Amino acid sequence: MTKMCEQISFEDLAQQFGTPLYVYSQNELSTAFSRYQQTFSALKPLICYAVKANSNLSILRHFAQLGSGFDTVSGGEIARVLAAGGAADKIIYSGVGKSVAEIEYALTVGIKCFNVESLPELDRINEVAQRLNKVAPISLRINPDVDAKTHPYISTGLKANKFGIAMSDAERAFVYAHSLPALKVIGIDCHIGSQLIDLSPLIEACERLLILVDKLAQQNIVLQHIDLGGGVGIVYHEEQTPDLHFYADELTKLLQQRSLNLIIEPGRSLVGQAGTLLTRVEYVKQGEEKNFVIVDAAMNDLIRPTLYEAYHHIENTVFRQPEILVDVVGPICETGDFLAQNRMLAAEQGDLLLVHGAGAYAASMASNYNSRCRAAEILVNGKEVKLIREREKIDDLFANERALL
Ligand code: LLP
Repeated sequence: MTKMCEQISFEDLAQQFGTPLYVYSQNELSTAFSRYQQTFSALKPLICYAVKANSNLSILRHFAQLGSGFDTVSGGEIARVLAAGGAADKIIYSGVGKSVAEIEYALTVGIKCFNVESLPELDRINEVAQRLNKVAPISLRINPDVDAKTHPYISTGLKANKFGIAMSDAERAFVYAHSLPALKVIGIDCHIGSQLIDLSPLIEACERLLILVDKLAQQNIVLQHIDLGGGVGIVYHEEQTPDLHFYADELTKLLQQRSLNLIIEPGRSLVGQAGTLLTRVEYVKQGEEKNFVIVDAAMNDLIRPTLYEAYHHIENTVFRQPEILVDVVGPICETGDFLAQNRMLAAEQGDLLLVHGAGAYAASMASNYNSRCRAAEILVNGKEVKLIREREKIDDLFANERALL
């Protein structure tokens, strides 16, 4: 059976635009967004899509049109949101290393809130705001020290992580922030990790933050919102589907009697399933111990398997038998350049393979390593196809370099 993205066959897309190619289904993006809106309808949260998951301008514009806000982590991401038509007053700015220039920029465009991660950052934002004659809306990112039970590289809410302010320092930090003249303390936030399958640590984190919210209220520091970050996982392989209803229902119980607004920052769960990476088989090679399917996509197009031992389902658009044990590898000169290891697959030269779950942290983490051009991106809506990022050309690779010696 022909493999399709909405009403277009993947093979047609590959022939028209070449491979490797990221293909996104607009319908799946919309479905994922409205699932959040419906499931959380009792709390009417501000959904701030985490731009880092996929920062293509058309994807940002699509979410902006659906009413989304945005979680950003750099001046570059803020600029992307604005270029895509997103509203500045729905932008949250997170991250541990905000520079003076980035803070100036965020204040000038008028973002909704800075998620502040340390005391020195409070001082810096206060200084910049004073200089610009502005008041900076801020939230403090608290590290609730809960175990998100995910891969250590994407777990962010433990004491050992660089993110946020320790729970034990939190009250003092809020009092200090409150005392600074050019800051307006409006919220509290956390983000405990990514690709969470069991969502109960998110509830636990919320409970811990609420204890703090109440303590602060006693000191006349009354917050407007609580932001629980992102983290909801998706099914890549055999994981259970994370129970969004459980998350929403438990949060509703905790928050419905309060006047706190809820903000959430989902990334992966809004875009991950909507994307597929198309790659063509270049060679099939029998090694001494292993069989290799060598494809034209590589770790520079999808680094998740290399970096996190992540599993992405790979499907051949051509039906073949019998399947054998293979590694699916790219052309890059690194042993770590694989899309899959020890996978049952039947493939021959010229076959088009689909790498699923490539909507999140794929194109946005792509690089030019080995002087490979970054792949094109396509958005499909029914029968309609839009080229939303052109394939890089060889000239683009060194356009900013000079051969001076
Ligand atoms: N908010 C903050 C402050 C974050 O740091 C992140 C992700 C998110 C929201 C969105 O989290 P999500 O809903 O996507 O789980 N490159 C890794 C994931 C890194 C996540 C970093 N922070 C991967 O490919 O799995």
